Amino acid sequence: MNALTAKILVSDERPSVRARALLEEMTLAEKIGQMSQVEATHGYAPDYLGERLRAGQVGSIINNVDVEIVNEAQRIAVEESRLGIPLLVGRDVIHGFKTIMPIPLGLAATWNPDLVREGARVAALEASRCGVNWTFAPMIDIARDPRWGRIAESFGECVLLTSALGAAMVEGFQGDDLGEPGSIAACAKHFAGYGAVESGRDYATTNIPDTKLRNVYFRPFHAAVEAGVSTLMTSFSDLNGVPATGNSYILEDVLRGEWGFDGFVVSDWDSIRQLQIHGLTENDKDSAFEAANAGVDMEMAGDAYSTHLLSLVEEGRVELETIDRAVLSILTLKFGLGLFEKPYTEPQLLPEFGSKRALSAAREAALQSVVLLKNDDAVLPLKKSALKSLAVIGPLADARYEQLGTWIFDGDEELSITPWQAIQDMVGDDVELRHVRAMANSRGRVNPEFDVAAEAAAECDATLLFLGEESILSGEAHSRADIGLPGDQVELVHRVRAAGKPVIAVILAGRPLTLSDVVDSVDAILYAWHPGTMGGPAIADLVFGMEAPSGKLPATFPRLVGQIPIYYSQKNGGKPPSKDNVVHIDDIDTFAPQTSLGMSAFHLDTCFTPLFPFGHGLSYTEFAYDNVRVSAEEIRLGDTLTVSVDLSNRGDIEAEEVAQLYTRDVVGSITRPVKELKGFRRVRLAPGETRTVSFDLHTDDLSFYGRDGERRIEPGLFHAWIAGSCDAESRTEFRIVD
Ligand code: NOJ
Repeated sequence: MNALTAKILVSDERPSVRARALLEEMTLAEKIGQMSQVEATHGYAPDYLGERLRAGQVGSIINNVDVEIVNEAQRIAVEESRLGIPLLVGRDVIHGFKTIMPIPLGLAATWNPDLVREGARVAALEASRCGVNWTFAPMIDIARDPRWGRIAESFGECVLLTSALGAAMVEGFQGDDLGEPGSIAACAKHFAGYGAVESGRDYATTNIPDTKLRNVYFRPFHAAVEAGVSTLMTSFSDLNGVPATGNSYILEDVLRGEWGFDGFVVSDWDSIRQLQIHGLTENDKDSAFEAANAGVDMEMAGDAYSTHLLSLVEEGRVELETIDRAVLSILTLKFGLGLFEKPYTEPQLLPEFGSKRALSAAREAALQSVVLLKNDDAVLPLKKSALKSLAVIGPLADARYEQLGTWIFDGDEELSITPWQAIQDMVGDDVELRHVRAMANSRGRVNPEFDVAAEAAAECDATLLFLGEESILSGEAHSRADIGLPGDQVELVHRVRAAGKPVIAVILAGRPLTLSDVVDSVDAILYAWHPGTMGGPAIADLVFGMEAPSGKLPATFPRLVGQIPIYYSQKNGGKPPSKDNVVHIDDIDTFAPQTSLGMSAFHLDTCFTPLFPFGHGLSYTEFAYDNVRVSAEEIRLGDTLTVSVDLSNRGDIEAEEVAQLYTRDVVGSITRPVKELKGFRRVRLAPGETRTVSFDLHTDDLSFYGRDGERRIEPGLFHAWIAGSCDAESRTEFRIVD
């Protein structure tokens, strides 16, 4: 161990105290080194990285997961640099490492924080084997535009669901003790507003009024801070004219000033230098100036800090205190992770990749993530005993890699079990199976295989049609303007439909797709997102009724792209649409032209409702919600109210339902959404069972940020619903009184 490091080990054990002691030993250049993260994709060779490590110019490396190289980089940093400070080793571990969970949007469809926590836990254990000690997740940008490719990485459109699942993911990565082997630091990203990029074009501009920032986009980040997230990442995007990476309002005033965050903020990849491209600065030096003064503590993969911070401090443009605060929080995390005691990774002390625990978490998450969108005449589940033959058609039925989805740098497709494999295992010799891929990939065009598919569909008792998007069609920089089924899949659906047998669509995709042109041509739809390593067995279990579907939509499904943005917690407006005040374009009377066509907020050429609402998801049983009630008609500020419902399983199979509590603050000093999710719970009910499901609602849960940016709870009337989706009907109400 390095002599100076040994010295600072003797005193107080607290990470922040040790960090401060170490800080006092550091030169300005060494401090700036800690604020620099360097790409290490190709290892510490070529020499530049080795040299920089020795010179104490690197605080963190990113994108190397070869444990020998990572250990060697740590060795150089610890044994050959003056102060022996170990490295943060960063990697995007977004929804699994080798074993892949469903994409985050799929995880969100489980509405199950325990599963999200466990998924992050097993991912952390796997990533730790490679020396990774810091991940860039959870991504908790509210995403209300399915054109945006990164909606796949998000938990969807809802503030409460995103907040709850983001906090659970932080807990899973960081564990009970960051210093334990297998715990890694989390990073909540991208602060802030990234999900609101114009027209869903990745990296585009965002314009978000302060009340919306505070009531929507900030809230999951505040929840992550409260859950103890170690770090935050800035967004690439421009926020109201000031790019997030140079935005002191969000980083200083809100994050640190109001929320008291004491971890550190990392830029996104080279986003400091991009301040110049945005047009905020003239050169890299000014970019370093803006970012440092806005509160960005570490630069990811750029060299604006390493090149310019020193002279900026010497010129007095950046205060030494700014540097010290940044370095203190970086060092505090390193001490907290136990890196000074154990800088090296011993993979043999950690579970194998693809362990039983990891695979079972992946399977359960995939199972609970699948949403049954429709099921005409209870065509699902298929009964093996009643089926002689089954056609399995489509490019995504047997695609080990594609089912993993976006952001799987380290995902091991060899661990994948595809639906086609799982269905074969499930039915054995009992059912004759025919598999027709029909298209090379999801973007394929009409080809002779369509005839083979149509023939198989005609000759078999039923068809499972695997449709959707391959993984490259969603994720960073993979936005789409048309979010229908790509290629000629719609034609494939119609060809298979024409065979006249039951058609069950299983859709694998990274976003809500617009399905209006196929929804009536199939009998059932299982929406499986990109379900990850164990997607196959999960889908087979659901298709054959080993388990009933229980996923619920974390994002609204529009009928047409033109409806976007469409989300459940919209405002009422002054002229809300209803079935009584809308007119369809086909119903406009040509001979007696109408001058008024409803005068409400709708599109003439589609319905004003979405195709499938937020929270929607069917089961193989029927759940009934009765007797929604409140424990008191009036409560005072500071009180807690209980909202209850009797939930019954009216069918003859055991199944799980996600009960959802929504409220509406009817009158506010700023207008309030028509519904806001305030609670949710997964409940497993036996056939015929009725159970009372109750939610406690504190008046704080009804608070919002007003015109002055202050949090408030306003007395008045509230509506409340508990239901199986946001399309809730029976409601109750209560009042908050002074
Ligand atoms: C850019 C992405 O926006 C961010 O989410 C990711 O963590 C970094 N690249 C590192 O890969």
